[in-house]
Amino acid sequence: MKYTVTPTNKLREMREEDFIVSKTDLKGRILYCNKIFVEFAQYTEKELIGSQHNIVRHPEMPRAIFKLLWDTVQSGSEIFAYVKNMARDGSGYWVFANISVSKDEKGRPIAYSSVRRKPKASGVKTVTEIYREMVAIEKRVGTKDGMAASMEYWNSIQAKGGTSYEEFIHTI
Ligand SMILES: Cc1cc2nc3c(=O)[nH]c(=O)nc-3n(C[C@H](O)[C@H](O)[C@H](O)COP(=O)(O)O)c2cc1C
Repeated sequence: MKYTVTPTNKLREMREEDFIVSKTDLKGRILYCNKIFVEFAQYTEKELIGSQHNIVRHPEMPRAIFKLLWDTVQSGSEIFAYVKNMARDGSGYWVFANISVSKDEKGRPIAYSSVRRKPKASGVKTVTEIYREMVAIEKRVGTKDGMAASMEYWNSIQAKGGTSYEEFIHTI
């Protein structure tokens, strides 16, 4: 089911003790979500289960970050990311997500999970600026080459700290 949601300027903040959890199949369809997920997303559990995870996608998120996310988990590794999500009422909520891979006995991915906690304000501030530029690049360059161009921008910022993606994300 597709819902038409218009983003508003309203932002809601996670509490220190919150964990927003979901589990998906290999295609990103939601298999499980916890109560806090439902509270923030503002869809019912029934609406969420079976839906694509992009149901909470916020238009201010760069496509390249999701490509990095998928490339990483499909290679069997976990990833951390700052993500701005959008609730059903159009409000935004920032999360710091750890997305990990469940594997079968042969090491093949069988499901993905995301555990999200309240992000650091400094990290949100940093990525807000970077993501804004990345989205602008993606719009300007277009679908085909936009993601590579916007990821190049991310890498150029990250490189100033001389760090890997993972180190960078934990230091901002
Ligand atoms: C376990 C897991 C959790 C995810 N959580 C989110 C999320 O909270 N918000 C989001 O926008 N995308 C999330 N995604 C990524 C979505 O599947 C999707 O790639 C993204 O929303 C971009 O959608 P689009 O390709 O339709 O633009 C998650 C993916 C996985 C595998």
